[in-house]
This record gives sequence, structure tokens and C-alpha cells, in this order.
Amino acid sequence: MGAFFIGRKSYLKIMFFSLPRHSHALKAKFPAQSLGNKSLWCNMLPWLFELEIVMFHHVEPYAGDPILSLNEAFGKDPRTDKINLSIGIYFDDDAKIPMLPSVRAAELKVVAEAGARPYLPMEGAANFRTAVQHLLFGAEHAALKAGRVVTIQTVGSSGGLKVGADFIKRYFPNTTILVSDPTWDNHRAVFEGSGLTVQTYPYYDAATGGLRFDAMLQALSKAEKHSVVLLHACCHNPTGVDLTDVQWQQLLPVLQERELIPFLDLAYQGYGASIAEDAFAVRLFADSGISFLVANSFSKSMSLYGERCGALTIVCPDAAQAVNVLGQLKANVRRNYSNPPMHGGQLVARVLTDPELRAMWEAEVVAMRDRIQLMRKKLFDVLSAKLPGRDVSYFLTQRGMFSYTGLSPEQCDRLKEEFGVYILRSGRMCVAGLNSRNVEATANAMAAVLA
Ligand code: LMR
Repeated sequence: MGAFFIGRKSYLKIMFFSLPRHSHALKAKFPAQSLGNKSLWCNMLPWLFELEIVMFHHVEPYAGDPILSLNEAFGKDPRTDKINLSIGIYFDDDAKIPMLPSVRAAELKVVAEAGARPYLPMEGAANFRTAVQHLLFGAEHAALKAGRVVTIQTVGSSGGLKVGADFIKRYFPNTTILVSDPTWDNHRAVFEGSGLTVQTYPYYDAATGGLRFDAMLQALSKAEKHSVVLLHACCHNPTGVDLTDVQWQQLLPVLQERELIPFLDLAYQGYGASIAEDAFAVRLFADSGISFLVANSFSKSMSLYGERCGALTIVCPDAAQAVNVLGQLKANVRRNYSNPPMHGGQLVARVLTDPELRAMWEAEVVAMRDRIQLMRKKLFDVLSAKLPGRDVSYFLTQRGMFSYTGLSPEQCDRLKEEFGVYILRSGRMCVAGLNSRNVEATANAMAAVLA
């Protein structure tokens, strides 16, 4: 053992606190030695020191998540007129997270019928999984009938991304995952956390507030075979810039030619055009016969954020491979969290399968989408009046909860500090946090920092 020096303070700390606390471990570690033995102290002190003082010395501080940290900072801001446009949550016109009447009615039924709470299977509840498949593909899709689609219930769509990422890492260990530039802040963390190499493909055009579609196609047409391409099926997070149906059709042959593996992230179904239209890419890919993954969520579409209701679906080449793929997804779930929680998934399954509740829910989704659209229009009107030389029409063309405002990090800081308006430093604004009382103040604050 090398030389070992500790200061008087550490020594005292060890004598008074560590020694009594670790007496059992100490006896087990040094059984043959007695307190009178000098070498005991030479060996014991570094051991105790390590146990007490340096055990976690290599653990670095966590910088925090840009979205969740800003949302927390908003919560602590004492100003009463503050405006939260940071996190991707739909707030109603009273700035409240809605409890959708369809989901409330489903919950009353589910609770009234609830019995014992056994563990769910690793893959989740069968009624939830089937309902998700029907929602994504349409109940009659040939891929479902062929038995080549597998779905597991996951802990939100983030859980679906994670289980999918682990699956990719295991079966395509050297592959790269390509994400749009920019993408949701957490995508890179999830995929790198599974050991995958993450690269980007061109996506957002800062000059127009639109899509660099040609550059995107060009980059993907050069991607390595079996690269995974993360695509936002609708309501791109963070930009709100989506592919049109025609562009999805143009993308498909590139994916096929390069044998790329699409991984669709569908977290905002219903917020773009409609529940069915927002699944356009899912259905197009399934029709084409390619293999791909989809992670979808009910956090936003059913306002069930804390229930963590999501799913991972993998469309396979045939039913035999689907059996093995499902088996490996189950094994992954078992290794990680054993099986998903029950309650939220049962609310989702009930809303999706009860015709009356389903109709209610679809109307509620339309109302949420229309309200966001109204807020976009109001923001556009005030900003275009205040900044006549500036084109802010991207607020009208971008879709879903988010818009990329084009504000610099410093301008975002000013919005927060001077006006209490919280948007991400990337310039992402959650338009779904606007309401009839705060939209004008938001537009005025933006105009002030942009002037
Ligand atoms: C967001 O993008 O703000 C939401 O999806 C919430 C999250 O977990 O980041």
C-alpha cells in the first residue's frame, strides 16, 4: 500500500463517526487483527476513508435537463404575471392542465370495475396493446392481420424510446442513430444512454422557419446501411416543422434504398391535422412493407402526463420474426422495470374502445388543436402589427404544441428576466401555454426583445 495521509479533521471524523458505523464490516474485513496491532490502523484508516469520504468522489454534478429545469425555475418565480411556455404541456384557456371529460368518465368506469391489482405481463395489458395498434394503423391493417406487428405498453413514449434504443443497440450494436437537427433535447440523452452513436441530419431552416427537405434527403441517401433514422411523425419537437404527406412519400424510397431503420416518435397525435392524418407516416411505412419502430404517447393527447402511458411498436418482416422481437422486448422490460403500471393504460384502453368515450375524446382533441391554432393566429397578428418588417408567418405554418421563434439564447433570457415569459433558450416556445389573457403580453414581450 502506498503512503496515505489524512488531515486531522478527517481523522477525527473517521474516529467518531465512521468507526462505530462500520464496526460490523470492520470486524469482517480485519478479523484476525486486534486494536493493539499497529498494522491494523495502517490498513483500516485508508479503507474507512475510502468508504466514508471518497466512495462517490468521481460522481460529477448533474447540469439538469434544459426543459425540466426551466419548468422548475418557473415554479419558483414569485411573479404573479409570469407565463410558462417552457414545457410541452397543453394548458387550457384558464392556464390549467385539463382533465379531459372522456378520460374522467373512463376513470369512473375503470375504478368502479377495479378488482385485484396483479402485476401486468412484461409487455403490458392486452386490451391497451390492441387498442394502440388499432389507433396507429387502423383496425384492419394488413400488417396487423399478418401478425407482424408487436406492441408493448411502456412508461410513456420516453420509455418506448429507451426500450427501442436498447433493442437497437443489442441487435445492431455498431449502428448510428440519426436525429433531426434540432431534435427534442432528450433524444440524444436516451440514445447515448443506450450506448448508441448519435449523429444529425439537416432539418430546420432558420432562414425560412421551414424544412430543409432536399438537404435532409441528400444526407439520408448517404447514410450507412442499417442506420436508424429518428423521425417525428407529426408536430416536430422543438420546431413545429413537419413533412407534408408528399414529402413522406418522397422520403420512403430513400429509406428503402439505404435499408435504413425508421424510428418514429409520435408523441402529439391529434395536435397536427387529426388523429388519423397524424399517423400518415406510420401507415405509409406499414403499407410499404419496411420494418420500423414507433414510440407513441398519450401524455398530450389524453392529458395523462403523470400516468406515463405510452407504447413501443415494432413492425417486423413477418410473424415468425415478430415473435422473437416481442420476446426480446419483454426480456428488456423485465431487466429494467419488470412490467408497466396498470391504471393509466386502462384509462387509455377504455377511451379508445368505448364508442361513446372515443367520440368525446376525438372532439376534445379537436378543441385542443383549434385553441392552439387560435393562439398562433393571435400571436401572429400582434407581432406582425408591432414588427411590420419581420416575417412571423412561421407561427401559422408550424404545427402542434411548439414553435421555433428564432430568438437567440440572450433574447430568451431577456424574455424570462424582464417579462417573466419562459421559453427554452433554443428559442422553442410551447404555444399550448398561451391563453386569451397572456397571449398579448407574450407578443409584446417578444416584440420588445426583437426590436
Ligand atoms: C417537452 O418536450 O417539453 C415534453 O415532451 C416534456 C419533456 O419530457 O421534455
